[in-house]
Amino acid sequence: MTTKETLIKKLRDKTARIGILGLGYVGLPLAVVFGEAGFKVTGVDPDSRKVDSLNKGVSYIPDVKTESIDKLVKSGLLTSTTDFSVLKDLDAVSICVPTPLRQTGDPDMSFIVSATDELAKYMHKGMVVVLESTTYPGTTREVLLPKLGVERALTVGEDWFLAFSPERVDPGREDWTTINTPKVMGGITDACSEVATAWYEGAIQSVHSVSSAEAAEMAKLLENTFRMINIGLVNELAIMCERLGVDVWEVIDAAATKPFGFMKFTPGPGLGGHCIPIDPLYLSWKMKSFHYNARFIELASEINTNMPRYVVNRVMEGLNDRAKALHGSKVLVLGAAYKPDIDDVRESPALDVIALLRRKGAIVEYHDPYIPHIHHEAEGWQMESITDLMPAVKDADAVVIVTNHKVYDYQAIVESAKFIFDSRNATRAVGKNLENVVRL
Ligand SMILES: NC(=O)c1ccc[n+]([C@@H]2O[C@H](COP(=O)([O-])OP(=O)(O)OC[C@H]3O[C@@H](n4cnc5c(N)ncnc54)[C@H](O)[C@@H]3O)[C@@H](O)[C@H]2O)c1
Repeated sequence: MTTKETLIKKLRDKTARIGILGLGYVGLPLAVVFGEAGFKVTGVDPDSRKVDSLNKGVSYIPDVKTESIDKLVKSGLLTSTTDFSVLKDLDAVSICVPTPLRQTGDPDMSFIVSATDELAKYMHKGMVVVLESTTYPGTTREVLLPKLGVERALTVGEDWFLAFSPERVDPGREDWTTINTPKVMGGITDACSEVATAWYEGAIQSVHSVSSAEAAEMAKLLENTFRMINIGLVNELAIMCERLGVDVWEVIDAAATKPFGFMKFTPGPGLGGHCIPIDPLYLSWKMKSFHYNARFIELASEINTNMPRYVVNRVMEGLNDRAKALHGSKVLVLGAAYKPDIDDVRESPALDVIALLRRKGAIVEYHDPYIPHIHHEAEGWQMESITDLMPAVKDADAVVIVTNHKVYDYQAIVESAKFIFDSRNATRAVGKNLENVVRL
């Protein structure tokens, strides 16, 4: 049998040993899905707290149940380590490391490079590697292929196999999870696609193969750019509706009654999370090397990035209408997570809203049941969430709803607050023309 046939056989009968590099929001659910499908999985992460927690059978990601981890650990199907040398005994490795932006807005490839360098030390014949981290088109071929194959004199598509398969996790979502969300797979060669697809089909319900790693990389960027641009569009619509004196929420609901040709997006205080604000900028960065300016991305990014400032201006106007200055006013920010009902504060617009309010001299507190502590690295301040919500709501000159968590009793909040700026239409169910509520 060829190396490819032997590997496919091991993947099909699940005797292949799986490795997941990076056990975060993406890697951990993936490790669980492979483990629950019957593969023996080894997680590798330099963060010893995560590794210790998993080896004790305890999850740290809300979407992954502790019972699932505990069961897999006890049955020997999941072990985790900080020691990369385990890679020498593994057959199939997924890379799920972060891809943030540098302060300058350029891609920070350091995590992909360091994970690849570690893996390169233990590469051997008969291995398949899949990159899951969101990145610019060309990364798999330009960054991984030389380090893992060429420099080690292994022929890709014959001795080993390399593909890109974008993760599509939507944290907090229960209907579409890692196991039932179709997976796009694009190999460096056809044989690479074949091997990687055989592996993922053993655990994930549907795998859609494309003809190249670049097509798979670009598919992910299309998905996230589509969201970013449409959010930018409705954010600008909100700004235009305010000038026109029209309720943007009513307009969007009305447009959404059209059964075809329209998809509903809602405005808000700005983009957040690890993906939507960041990933499209990987594409626009890459396009600069082709002397091409990705104009839709730049424009949407400009509008979305300006939303926290717009929100703070509206809060200032709302206070002004109540004969108050923002400077010296007590402002309570409700919600710090970047979206409802999750514990993730990465890139959250709440951080910018709070920073801008503080800079204007407001006395700011925040409350978030999921985020006990925030740290604004660039500005060098930290805050703790208040714990006693309702007295703070009563006491505040302005309550700014940044994240519409379901746990909030909006009726009680509206009844108690002097003035609310609602950037998410969270108070919709309480009533439309509430005199103490201003909506985005
Ligand atoms: N979180 C999401 O909703 C989401 C959705 C789709 C795609 N993605 C993409 O998936 C990738 C991972 O995102 P995430 O949210 O899981 O990030 P994360 O920060 O939650 O997890 C990444 C993990 O990688 C570990 N790590 C760092 N360097 C490493 C190395 N050299 N070797 C091994 N592990 C290393 C970190 O310790 C961390 O545990 C990113 O590219 C992201 O854009 C994320």
